[in-house]
Amino acid sequence: MKQLEEYVRSIPDFPEEGIIFRDVTSVLQDADGLQLAVDTMQDKVKDLEFDVVVGPESRGFIFGTPIAYNLKKPFVLIRKKGKLPCETVSIDYELEYGTATIEMHKDSIKPGQKILIVDDLIATGGTTEAMIRLIESLGGEVVGIVVMIELAGLKGRERLKDYRLESAICYEGK
Ligand code: PRP
Ligand code: MG
Repeated sequence: MKQLEEYVRSIPDFPEEGIIFRDVTSVLQDADGLQLAVDTMQDKVKDLEFDVVVGPESRGFIFGTPIAYNLKKPFVLIRKKGKLPCETVSIDYELEYGTATIEMHKDSIKPGQKILIVDDLIATGGTTEAMIRLIESLGGEVVGIVVMIELAGLKGRERLKDYRLESAICYEGK
């Protein structure tokens, strides 16, 4: 059986010179790759108890929803600015390439709920840190974060040292 790493396509010098882009589309477009990715991520957090899965637009939706479905948990969306119709909380944050604003509905989680964050990839950890701030501002407790890919060279893990972070694949570089 193929390893999960073998489904990830690496593109040198994208989106800028010196960066190796780790492409999740090559995982998703293979039925075995998709299944292996979701199963591996889910397995990493099998000992965790939580009430809600939260995932960010857009690639976080891809992995967050099947994990929530499999474990019969609700899925809450964190979206880019201006997409959510009801009352929101929002936060600005730094991206690896630029800045962004994300939002979540105020009524999407309740105080005291335990939250699992799911995303495709952790680079600087900026997106995850911003999500944690939003979730905590609503009284949620982040009990874990699971991603398919961790780019260890960008030190997201250090930034999130107070939280449990699981990755299915860890690359040493950026
Ligand atoms: C990418 C990736 C993670 C985030 C990781 O999302 O999907 O969500 O960046 O980077 P960080 O750890 O440095 O914050 P992006 O904002 O490019 O949007 P997308 O998921 O819609 O493609
Ligand atoms: Mg993303």
